[in-house]
Amino acid sequence: MTHLDWGLTGKTVIVTGATGAIGRAVAQGFAEAGATVAIVDLDQATCETTALSLGLAHRGYGTDLRQFAQLPALIARIEADLGLATTLVNIAGVILRTPDLFTVTEKDWDAQHDINLKALFFLTQAFSKRLADTGTSGSVINYSSQGALSGGFGGSVVYNATKGAITTMTRGMARSWAPLGIRVNSIAPGLVDTPMLKTTGQTDEDRQAMINQIPMKRLGLPEDNVGATVFLASDMARYMTGAMINVSGGFLMY
Ligand SMILES: NC(=O)c1ccc[n+]([C@@H]2O[C@H](COP(=O)([O-])OP(=O)(O)OC[C@H]3O[C@@H](n4cnc5c(N)ncnc54)[C@H](O)[C@@H]3O)[C@@H](O)[C@H]2O)c1
Repeated sequence: MTHLDWGLTGKTVIVTGATGAIGRAVAQGFAEAGATVAIVDLDQATCETTALSLGLAHRGYGTDLRQFAQLPALIARIEADLGLATTLVNIAGVILRTPDLFTVTEKDWDAQHDINLKALFFLTQAFSKRLADTGTSGSVINYSSQGALSGGFGGSVVYNATKGAITTMTRGMARSWAPLGIRVNSIAPGLVDTPMLKTTGQTDEDRQAMINQIPMKRLGLPEDNVGATVFLASDMARYMTGAMINVSGGFLMY
């Protein structure tokens, strides 16, 4: 290996939430780095279109990741089609904004925890078990958020709690699986200009107020997250595990 070997050519990478704004950009980044990408998201047809747009080698897997018991079978299907995946990028997630903390219901709580946290855990468990069983090293990248550290406010508190848990869990997984050669890291995007960022009734002034808080004076773009994500999966990050990289234009500085 040279000092600048990305080592991703011919590797199979699973990206969840891969037809969403950030996931689509990240999937394309891995395809450009030479990897074969398994596009996982809710809708089969959109997954297939996205995969095809990246090239013929890639495949789409329409899956509701809240079907927890089916996740080992998903990992097995991807292996049968594309070979053993050695990188898993957990991007799928939802935010349910409620007017304030007093209006959050149990249903809101479960909807966010089920996909953001529980599905992430059980998919990562199935992925890592396969690596462990075959004695193969690999890497997991979990999408957290700047809100993991700030906590957010009002109606986004529950969402941010799932992101805080992802950052914490990333560290625990990293420590548990380092002896197996499985690295686990997280990315904390700042304020990214995607539909997820928009709140009901958001005005131009609200948007400008967000931008004013960012030292680099612009919202993030989905593409801004690609470099850090591909880097964490690559051999260039071979001595990194348990880390969180913030990609936030300076919004987050720790
Ligand atoms: N946009 C931001 O400002 C921002 C900031 C910090 C962190 N993030 C995180 O980045 C990630 C991507 O965000 P985005 O802005 O691209 O959002 P997005 O809504 O465009 O993408 C999320 C994707 O997850 C998929 N998904 C949701 N539930 C699913 C399920 N049950 N099974 C399978 N797939 C499911 C959706 O279909 C969607 O394609 C999320 O985890 C989000 O929390 C976003």
